[in-house]
Amino acid sequence: MKSLLIANWKMDPQTYDEAARVVRATRGAVEESRGITMVICPPAIFLRELVKKYGTLRSNGKRLSFGVQNIFAERVGAATGELSVDMAHNAGVEYVLVGHSERRKFGETNTDVAKKAMLALKAGMFAVVCVGESVRDEQGTYLKELERQVQESIPQMPRRYYDRLIVAYEPVWAIGESAVRSATPHEIFETTLYIRKVIASMFTKEFAFKVPVLYGGSVDAVNAVAVLSEGGVEGLLIGRASLQEKTFPELIVSIANAK
Ligand code: PGA
Repeated sequence: MKSLLIANWKMDPQTYDEAARVVRATRGAVEESRGITMVICPPAIFLRELVKKYGTLRSNGKRLSFGVQNIFAERVGAATGELSVDMAHNAGVEYVLVGHSERRKFGETNTDVAKKAMLALKAGMFAVVCVGESVRDEQGTYLKELERQVQESIPQMPRRYYDRLIVAYEPVWAIGESAVRSATPHEIFETTLYIRKVIASMFTKEFAFKVPVLYGGSVDAVNAVAVLSEGGVEGLLIGRASLQEKTFPELIVSIANAK
């Protein structure tokens, strides 16, 4: 199955050596898997070295590249502790995650997210805009929350940037250690269709059905294939499972081998 897989390592692992080990294991699996585009987003401090050593792989429908988990919303300025878009680009990064719920929790707004996405696009990188409701209520008010996030977090952009935008649907209740469960393929199918409808109203219908939409939230080696094949998404954003040196390579290979 042709898929885009993004590994979001968050604030792990704690040492460069461990990071290099996971990259080697991941790269090994990508090398034997056709049709997989694998993007690893490690903690930024490990990036330059990882890119230099394990580089970007591009052959026979196999790709490995790197991403950052966040950038600052301004291109330049005095911003202690932040990472600029140009620094990421200069380190060999091709993908930028923006608006992850763990960043939004620290106060990041939709407007910030749209600014960051635009900076990434202008720098020639892929912007992965994360959206997702915090809770799923019976009445469906979460769809309103989602609509607003999509409308305000995806920047109004000229057509030339269309093919560098990626949307990740990440329901907050399905993410991380405190997750209730993963969203079901059916829920993912329905909700990402809704996201595409909102995108169609902002841009064009054609773009809405072309833009890659990913799912993230408690994806593991057990549910990955079903999420992809029944959820109607083009790829996955994977947190915890992407640091599992043994099972993550298996996950990659099982997706590549799935029909
Ligand atoms: P998880 O995280 O796979 O550990 O649930 C997903 C994410 O936050 O992107």
